[in-house]
Amino acid sequence: MRNQQSLGDTPPEEFRKQLHELADWIADFREHIEQLRVAPDDKPGAIREQLPKRAPEEGELFETILSDVDRIIVPGMVHWSHPMFLGYFGWTSTAPGILGEILTAPLNVNAMTWRTCPAATELETVVMDWLRQWVGLPDEFEGIIYDTASVGIMHALAVAREEAAPATRKLGLTDRNLPRLRVYISDQAHSSAEKAAIALGLGEENVIRIPSDDQFRIDVNSLGRRIAEDREDGFQPMAVVATMGTTSTASIDPVRDIGNLCREANIWLHIDAAYGGGFAILPEYEWMRKGWELADSIVINPHKTIFVPLDFSVLYMRDLARLRRVFSLVPEYLRGDTVEAEKNYMDYGIQLGRRFRALKAWVIWRSLGRAGVVARLREQIRLANLLADWIKEDDRFELSAQPSMGVICFRFIDADEKKVDQLNSDIVARINASGRAYLTQTKLRGRTVMRIGLGNVLTTEEHLHKGWKFIQDKAVDL
Ligand SMILES: Cc1ncc(COP(=O)(O)O)c(C=O)c1O
Repeated sequence: MRNQQSLGDTPPEEFRKQLHELADWIADFREHIEQLRVAPDDKPGAIREQLPKRAPEEGELFETILSDVDRIIVPGMVHWSHPMFLGYFGWTSTAPGILGEILTAPLNVNAMTWRTCPAATELETVVMDWLRQWVGLPDEFEGIIYDTASVGIMHALAVAREEAAPATRKLGLTDRNLPRLRVYISDQAHSSAEKAAIALGLGEENVIRIPSDDQFRIDVNSLGRRIAEDREDGFQPMAVVATMGTTSTASIDPVRDIGNLCREANIWLHIDAAYGGGFAILPEYEWMRKGWELADSIVINPHKTIFVPLDFSVLYMRDLARLRRVFSLVPEYLRGDTVEAEKNYMDYGIQLGRRFRALKAWVIWRSLGRAGVVARLREQIRLANLLADWIKEDDRFELSAQPSMGVICFRFIDADEKKVDQLNSDIVARINASGRAYLTQTKLRGRTVMRIGLGNVLTTEEHLHKGWKFIQDKAVDL
């Protein structure tokens, strides 16, 4: 008889057997990942076609489900943890990260208040402080874990909005004769600022994109001028978002200059260090964090660069109580569950229920240690610079931006100028369709460029060389 047909859970012995089977499956997957295609070459809907339209009436065996994972799901995936996955930011899987995720599953707690899970709450506070120390943020910054940087910036700007327009939490923005609030970002910044403005009722058009310089960093003079002009025109400058590690080229805005400007003008400074923040762990990157102590809030995505499995993003805020004042709202049924002396993380955002995300960070950061994190980040930078050298040596290609951290943007130029954009796009599309490697493309100053983002711990110099040869060959083929 199938255990699913009876009430309760799978019998312990059967569960143990399934777990062993799954452990083997995971170990095999990791060991042989290189033999998989990096990405499928299917048309949209191809996976859906293989799946029943209705959920099963009767329970099915785990072995059947797992064999469908092998047959349908795994071939239908882009394998971000494949060593030849060179797209986006090289999110990585690691064995300790997988163990951390597995360990989290049976605990399955809701870390909304201290009382609903003291260990989850206190561990969150501890790992946030570990990371704060690693990246050298002053101790007046405290952190909270969210799923993504987009959610982090929305919460940060909600506090900025409350400071610029007090009582917005209570009264909202409408019908109060308020000036229009404005947020400033660079033309290279991520769209999460605009999304936050949409969610917060600030309006997408009130996020002003300031031109960047020849190294894709925000032009601080233009920023200052625009803020002054906006004030004269009756707008209220509310926040500046500086980026450490922009999405296309990983460029780094001049944080100290922006911070000084924000201090003088009494404007909230949010730093989007979703990508670059992790590299602040490196002593040789200390220059990058100069001035970030002037920020009001900073987002770092350890799921991008500090080896924590997706999803795990951190919002640091100077005086985190400001976040609490905007979002704390305790429903009656939870009153008995709140302990004022301890953090109740539900008070620090719109989310009530919260996963125990701190556990996986704790597992991976203990497993690697600071030295292990540093060594892996340094290897990424070494590989990025090596690839940049290979590109420079081939005059059919050009580097489109200085490589920054693990990101390299480049372009094939040995063709009719009118066709070059399409050609670069086609190279990326062909490579991705081949299943042998995966990269992305972006636009810089209106030109299409190829983009490689390193970060996968399985990607070695050999893999990168193979990828580069493949790009060269495809460019010639086309
Ligand atoms: C610089 C930057 N900020 C924010 C984000 C948004 O990150 P998330 O997916 O965690 O919301 C990205 C995404 O890649 C990014 O590159």
